Amino acid sequence: MRQRLIAGNWKMNKTPTEAERFIRAFLAADRGADGVETVLLPPFIGLELAGRLLRKTGVALGGQDLHFEEKGAFTGEISAEMLIACGCRYVLVGHSERRTLFHEDDGLLNRKLNAALATGLSPILCVGETLAEHREGQVREKVTAQLCADLDGIEPAQIASVVIAYEPIWAIGTGETASPEEAEGAIRMIRGWFSRAYDEEIAKNLRILYGGSVNPENAAAIVAQPDIDGALVGGASLSPETFARIVVQAG
Ligand code: 13P
Repeated sequence: MRQRLIAGNWKMNKTPTEAERFIRAFLAADRGADGVETVLLPPFIGLELAGRLLRKTGVALGGQDLHFEEKGAFTGEISAEMLIACGCRYVLVGHSERRTLFHEDDGLLNRKLNAALATGLSPILCVGETLAEHREGQVREKVTAQLCADLDGIEPAQIASVVIAYEPIWAIGTGETASPEEAEGAIRMIRGWFSRAYDEEIAKNLRILYGGSVNPENAAAIVAQPDIDGALVGGASLSPETFARIVVQAG
């Protein structure tokens, strides 16, 4: 049985003071029953404080990115070990904003995945197609190519701690969501890829999230799809009340 997961990617939003205000309000809000795993992904600068506030609360913490080296002369970068020291269990790898705006290619993402897994972090690997690719019916080609390249050499035993987030780029921050059926189709296709590339059991146990304009109104219908195990939420994760409502909807 796959536990549902709702992750809030704050992107470049919230100072540590604002993060603290959010976390106190979120912990006080009605988040439904305990069945849904919840993860907050603040900017690096808020991680240490967030880690302290979230300790023993059942709400997990993750980073939005990491560098693949353990340490050294990499100005501006953060290592897997630093994320763990702040209390992170998860880390995003390959968000479309990193791929597009910061030119992160599949070779780099493969190294980041290896670094995360070697340190004991669970990577949330993001994949998804552009609007043009979507219109041209290239969802399978695009997503499959990303999975093949990003997961190259990742062993079957390591997949247990990987989470996949299918985020069609045209649905991110646009208010336009893939319909639940459309999202389910893409996510079922991804699960099928894992059963061929790894095996049936691994594919069955893998958690795959949908991301792209998820809000309290559409979350329940998305998460109700048989292959969709939760959501990676951007804009709607910035308000503690709104994000808590999404968690309730996923329960
Ligand atoms: P929005 O929920 O704002 O569309 O962002 C989705 C996203 O990119 C989450 O990582």
